[in-house]
Amino acid sequence: MSAIENATKISSNHQNNFWKTLPRPFSVLAPMEDVTDSAFRRFIAKCGRPAVFYTEFTSTDGICSAGFSGVKHRLKYTEDERPLVAQIWGNNPDNYFKTCRILCEMGFDGIDINMGCPVPKVAKKGACSALIDNPDLARELIIAAKEAAGKIPISVKTRLGFKHLKTEEWGQTLLELKPAA
Ligand SMILES: Cc1cc2nc3c(=O)[nH]c(=O)nc-3n(C[C@H](O)[C@H](O)[C@H](O)COP(=O)(O)O)c2cc1C
Repeated sequence: MSAIENATKISSNHQNNFWKTLPRPFSVLAPMEDVTDSAFRRFIAKCGRPAVFYTEFTSTDGICSAGFSGVKHRLKYTEDERPLVAQIWGNNPDNYFKTCRILCEMGFDGIDINMGCPVPKVAKKGACSALIDNPDLARELIIAAKEAAGKIPISVKTRLGFKHLKTEEWGQTLLELKPAA
């Protein structure tokens, strides 16, 4: 069985896929760097609870490095913030695999891959929105994440293009891998 077929099969098991049981329509608290930390999410939960919460985006290289303690605070949460999706970014499939295993052990309800951030600091490394122009690597990252996460849903947050609109071909690339959202 090919890696793509295997990743597609994983997504067909909805047992732990909270996306499937949300009321429709639903709202989410968008992931925001330097904003959506645990304190902010708890505040939002009190004044206008969305159906889904996200962490700030967290580097897979950071999580897999000796500097893990430097990014660990980004992944702190309380039970009041569920369902909670950990958003990750990076460009190394091995680190996606390891990171997703760690995040599953930490009890996140979902994992989201950032393929949308246009900030030059990350796009210059070939991560986030730059992955739209590197669909082979994007595919590898999603497959690695899905293999590691098993029943925990993997979603992708993206945009319609990096330098140019690529709505259809990029959408097709993503949909072939059946992300949870
Ligand atoms: C301060 C700030 C930080 C953001 N950080 C992230 C992030 O870490 N990950 C991400 O996917 N999007 C990030 N975004 C984009 C938002 O999640 C959202 O997609 C964007 O603001 C568009 O939604 P809006 O039209 O409701 O503002 C950020 C946006 C803002 C304003």
